[in-house]
Amino acid sequence: MRIARALPLVERIYANIRFAILRPKLLSVMDLLLPASGRILDVGCGFGLFAAYFGQTQPGRTILGVDPDARRVQMATKVSMTLGLHNQFVAGDIRNVTIDGKFEGAYVLDVMHHLPADDQWATLAQLRESLVPGGTLVIKDITTVPRFGLEFTRLLDRAMIGMDAPLHYRHHRAWGEMLVSLGFDVRMVRVPDVLPYPHVVIAATRR
Ligand SMILES: C[S@@+](CC[C@H](N)C(=O)[O-])C[C@H]1O[C@@H](n2cnc3c(N)ncnc32)[C@H](O)[C@@H]1O
Repeated sequence: MRIARALPLVERIYANIRFAILRPKLLSVMDLLLPASGRILDVGCGFGLFAAYFGQTQPGRTILGVDPDARRVQMATKVSMTLGLHNQFVAGDIRNVTIDGKFEGAYVLDVMHHLPADDQWATLAQLRESLVPGGTLVIKDITTVPRFGLEFTRLLDRAMIGMDAPLHYRHHRAWGEMLVSLGFDVRMVRVPDVLPYPHVVIAATRR
């Protein structure tokens, strides 16, 4: 509630919907998988809702959010300041942004399927390089089964981003194989929802 209240009306409604979709169970799983302290990279941070959430659950985390949408980055900065957090945000595309230093952890929350299919492997490879050995990358995405859940999600994604923007979902095993081939140890869990979203959370630890 505090995070949503730090935003203007339209974004506040969006924030309330996002928190309703990503129920406490799902966020708790991610929270436990992420390191409790150190530098954490938030890939595709949007309005910084979850940087605010994960920054509040473990104040020892220093979160850096990246998103190509400069207006979202501006909002994320405002939310963080309003809540007295020290999260930082930069406007940029994760595929070519320059970020100094390594991270103890990173998360990609409903962002991987927004990258073109041909860029997904290279982006994960780049994220591996941004982690310290033993660092954990947490991916929350949508898997491709059951089909109805996938099409339900696709419809809502298309309503948000339009028909032309890239959208490429993968089965959770395909993400797992890709991550293992890149040198991660992988665990994953499907998180049920009352809505038909086929959520999956993947924890990939850099070997
Ligand atoms: C569905 S929103 C999720 C936002 C946020 N992670 C959340 O869960 O509220 C997808 C986000 O990914 C961002 N995004 C899309 N392509 C990106 C890229 N190449 N690099 C970084 N972020 C990207 C979009 O701007 C958008 O904010």
